[in-house]
Amino acid sequence: MKGIILAGGTGSRMFPVTQSINKHFLPVFDKPMIYYPLSVLMLAEIKEIAIVCRGIDKPLFEKLLGNGEALGINIVFVIQNSPAGIVDGLKKARHFIANSSFCLILGDNFFFGPGLTPRLVNAKNNIKNASAFAYEVKNPKSFGVLSYNSENQVESIEEKPENPKSNTIVTGLYMFDNKAISYADKLSISPRGELEITELLNIYIQEASLCVEVLGRGYAWLDMGTSENLMEASMYIQSIEKRQGFKIACLEEIAYRKGWISKDTLSLACERHKCTTYGEYLHKVLTELR
Ligand code: G1P
Repeated sequence: MKGIILAGGTGSRMFPVTQSINKHFLPVFDKPMIYYPLSVLMLAEIKEIAIVCRGIDKPLFEKLLGNGEALGINIVFVIQNSPAGIVDGLKKARHFIANSSFCLILGDNFFFGPGLTPRLVNAKNNIKNASAFAYEVKNPKSFGVLSYNSENQVESIEEKPENPKSNTIVTGLYMFDNKAISYADKLSISPRGELEITELLNIYIQEASLCVEVLGRGYAWLDMGTSENLMEASMYIQSIEKRQGFKIACLEEIAYRKGWISKDTLSLACERHKCTTYGEYLHKVLTELR
């Protein structure tokens, strides 16, 4: 399975902060935002990854992540200059996807919780058709909302409905088989000018082939795409890291624990980040896991 991170868009919900910088580089506590969705793909053991971004942002992503070699993964870039929706990003990545199944994650989504890794790996290994990760929220109107029939089966998903039929929404994490590309070609632009992910999911629902994986209340799912949400995510991450002494989304740690990078590569990362708490943490990982 391949991985796609959608990191395009203008970040207009965060102007003026994002007028000159892509929001995915902004710090969410002690790391750039993009580290969090990238860590989710790495935890799912997906090593072939495309970052979909604007042309002007590509050199900056390359400066931050290179080609992924330092993380034992392979990162390529796909250009999406206009914010025409999640499915448009997917269509732009069709050459990268080729004949594979793929996991799609939005660049501003944060996931954390017990057993997340085995759930992701399990979903990946058993992918048939499509899976969407769902979550219960208090304000469903801002999201893709699930509606259920009398037998409690998902009947459809409505994008940002005025009158939501449930409090369960689809997060920005999906897994698809290769049919998604041809289905994506059938969709037309929505009233808000986008190719909607909910419409793609609805095709799978009509075929009774969408698996909805609800992440229960023990999980944290945050979207970091507004100043307020970003601040909340920062504080959440700070609290957990301060209390436990473990870092969330430390990419080199994930790569090292999975055996994807050598001790020497981790030492180089320690050197690069020295004088920061991130570097100190990498040093701790290096010495503890000798
Ligand atoms: C997008 C999707 C929506 C989903 C949400 C999750 O919304 O269209 O269905 O619930 O991501 O973050 P947008 O970011 O375009 O508002």
